[in-house]
Amino acid sequence: MAPKIAIVYYSMYGHIKRMAEAELAGVKSAGGSADLYQVQETLPQEILDKMYAPPKDSEIPIITPDKLQQYDGVLLGIPTRYGNFPAQWKTFFDSTGSQWQQGSFWGKYVGLFVSTAALGGGQESTCIAAMSTLAHHGMIYVPLGYKTVFGQLANLDEVHGGSPWGAGTFANSDGSRQPTPLELEVATAQGKMFYETVAKAHGGA
Ligand SMILES: Cc1cc2nc3c(=O)[nH]c(=O)nc-3n(C[C@H](O)[C@H](O)[C@H](O)COP(=O)(O)O)c2cc1C
Repeated sequence: MAPKIAIVYYSMYGHIKRMAEAELAGVKSAGGSADLYQVQETLPQEILDKMYAPPKDSEIPIITPDKLQQYDGVLLGIPTRYGNFPAQWKTFFDSTGSQWQQGSFWGKYVGLFVSTAALGGGQESTCIAAMSTLAHHGMIYVPLGYKTVFGQLANLDEVHGGSPWGAGTFANSDGSRQPTPLELEVATAQGKMFYETVAKAHGGA
């Protein structure tokens, strides 16, 4: 049976959302399908306005711990805050005590993709910071690695996000930079690789 994949993201300015769509294209290119979800906003509208955050896409459902339990593999989209999860993501995971206690997320496969304002802003540390949460839940981290994207990740001809920890983009400190074709290509390759890996581990697509 084909594995069930979810792509779950938080995106304040749309960069991670765009990367999530590229990850979805990758899953589809491998013959799979995935459901897109967003993480519940926790900031009041007044603060979001002050941060110039555009409205969220109301078509994308909000993830709940119960819904996440139904999936075999999950790609998490994380826009960094100080090299770590944003509070919105942390709030979601802090509401999964019951799943932690019952081992409901145990054995699920997880891939990560990230966004930072700039180089050195935490592309890799954001992924590393997520490891503790994944370990406590017993979730199985699937790194992007280099095998399918060596040329793209090693490309020094242009500025780009992403690492063997997962696809990535740079938003710039004012959010003006958008994911580049190269960054989207890596995100799509990750979606494909992730689906193939989970399908193989799951006993076939
Ligand atoms: C409170 C706060 C902390 C942030 N910390 C970092 C940081 O440590 N490094 C960095 O490069 N960008 C940092 N950023 C920029 C965000 O990572 C950036 O806005 C985000 O990746 C854009 O993705 P999005 O459009 O999907 O929200 C921070 C932004 C905020 C609001």
